[in-house]
Amino acid sequence: MLNPVKEIEKLKKERNAVIVAHNYQPDSVQAIADYIGDSYGLSKKAAQLEEEIIVFCGVKFMAESAKIVSPEKTVLIPDINAGCPMADMADIESLIEIKRQHTDAAVASYVNSSAAVKSESDICCTSSNAVKIVNSLPQEEIIFLPDKNLGDYVSKRTDKEIIFWEGFCPTHHRVMLEDVKKSREIYADAPILAHPECRAEVLEKADYIGSTAGILDYAKNSDAEKLIIGTEKGLLYRLKEENPDKEFHLLSFQLICRNMKKTNLEKIFNSLKNMEGEIKIDEKIRIKAEKALQAMIELGE
Ligand code: 13P
Ligand code: SF4
Repeated sequence: MLNPVKEIEKLKKERNAVIVAHNYQPDSVQAIADYIGDSYGLSKKAAQLEEEIIVFCGVKFMAESAKIVSPEKTVLIPDINAGCPMADMADIESLIEIKRQHTDAAVASYVNSSAAVKSESDICCTSSNAVKIVNSLPQEEIIFLPDKNLGDYVSKRTDKEIIFWEGFCPTHHRVMLEDVKKSREIYADAPILAHPECRAEVLEKADYIGSTAGILDYAKNSDAEKLIIGTEKGLLYRLKEENPDKEFHLLSFQLICRNMKKTNLEKIFNSLKNMEGEIKIDEKIRIKAEKALQAMIELGE
């Protein structure tokens, strides 16, 4: 391929396709995307797009969410093996069993979950609206899955009783209190901005906790010249683009999600050329999952 960027542009026009990318995607992918965003922004955007084909550069649950809200569209994921280990920690059988044990509880599932898990949920949430979503539910008991760290963050900001799930994001869970201490030693006053998928002890020491979009907003409005980023490395691309005069440092060098890095320009080209990696969801599951996702979108951020 002589010039992958040009080839992709050409194919995109021919096929009436649009490329959306999550904030954690490799720099070269974000550079050619038509839209970049956090999970909430992208799931909302997917329902509004006019193109017939959505090439979703992210992990599988994100591409599935796009398909759930726009079933008439063809949704392609450039690497079908780009999964989310945390989403894989929640299975439908265990969820049904917990629901049976807590018949009065509502189920709030983080969008980092399979379409099947969403279909057994009352509502979905993302890291940007989890507290608001949980507080909006009439039930007092909430089964919150799959992220125990986000669940803990929510439980400290609500009077509801949270029933936790033993899931976590391996990438964010790797960040330790020691990393916060080291960062404070090296960068003294630089604010630490952390994603709520980090451990509670890390979040307790953070100056700001938010989704990837929240971190971008905070960084833009901050007077600080140096900022420490407690989320996946890919976010540095937009942080640097949008704030060329500020310095950004990762809270831990281990903040890399291998699945997010599976996408590249060659795979995007191939998926568009050969219509490979199409997301398919059983219609009965999709209809139920759509209710949970739309309930979230209606409540907003
Ligand atoms: P956001 O919802 O902040 O985009 O994060 C998604 C994700 O996968 C975090 O690890
Ligand atoms: Fe899943 Fe964590 Fe990767 Fe996000 S960063 S996609 S939660 S493994």
